[in-house]
Amino acid sequence: MKYFIITGSSRGIGEAIVQKLLKPNHHLICISRRTNSELIALANSRNIPLNYFEFDLNNVHKIEELMEKIMQTMDEASVESIYLINNAAVVKPVELLDLSDADDIIQHMNINLIAPMILSSSFIKNTRHLEVDKRILNISSGLSFNLKAMLSCYSTSKAGLETFTKAVGVEQNNVKIMGVRPGAVDTQMYEDSISTDEQAYKVKLAKPSYAADRILSFLFDRFEHGKVVKGW
Ligand SMILES: NC(=O)c1ccc[n+]([C@@H]2O[C@H](COP(=O)([O-])OP(=O)(O)OC[C@H]3O[C@@H](n4cnc5c(N)ncnc54)[C@H](OP(=O)(O)O)[C@@H]3O)[C@@H](O)[C@H]2O)c1
Repeated sequence: MKYFIITGSSRGIGEAIVQKLLKPNHHLICISRRTNSELIALANSRNIPLNYFEFDLNNVHKIEELMEKIMQTMDEASVESIYLINNAAVVKPVELLDLSDADDIIQHMNINLIAPMILSSSFIKNTRHLEVDKRILNISSGLSFNLKAMLSCYSTSKAGLETFTKAVGVEQNNVKIMGVRPGAVDTQMYEDSISTDEQAYKVKLAKPSYAADRILSFLFDRFEHGKVVKGW
């Protein structure tokens, strides 16, 4: 059985990734604040095991406990490979830094950077004894280096996630780690991020389903340990 832990599965790219992964011999573990009932129904109709954890990744102190609960859903003897896709993120605050609220800045960094770091750390700890293929895929963004006004938190969290990915790649060999930067995708996040940038409306947007195919092609066929690459 191949196990997949995917954060941010309630909509957008994460939902599309889970839809693509609903196949025989796969066991899906989904995390977001809102449960995606459509995914659960689809998994049930195909007889694919899916566990949904309704969890707020801002609760960074509870993430290790969450990972332990996730591990309990697995039948260790059946594990062929195990994957963690750190996809969940927020774009807020979309604001000049001096107008940004301190709580929004803290929450942003918790969800976009601290949560994937702790999820990765507890994933590595909890799977140490499993001699199977183990991979972490972190979803970044071109805005990690392409800087725009009002998106300083987002650029900072994604640049941090990329450095984290490369640094963990240097020290870990038992678990493989990689980052992918999707292009512009037609999701709620994209809409939220452009509210101040008229030019952005002219960008051709990919469908979440296309983004999911590209992201999964890196996970399965083009995995480069310790690297962060452009999705398309
Ligand atoms: N869309 C783009 O153009 C684009 C481009 C480059 C990179 N990306 C990256 O692609 C990834 C997916 O983005 P998207 O466009 O699909 O975004 P989206 O449609 O806004 O979806 C974000 C997902 O993250 C989850 N999430 C947000 N806050 C959370 C929290 N506190 N706890 C748990 N889950 C939380 C949301 O679920 P709940 O609200 O139910 O919690 C949702 O499922 C992100 O890492 C984003 O940075 C997107």
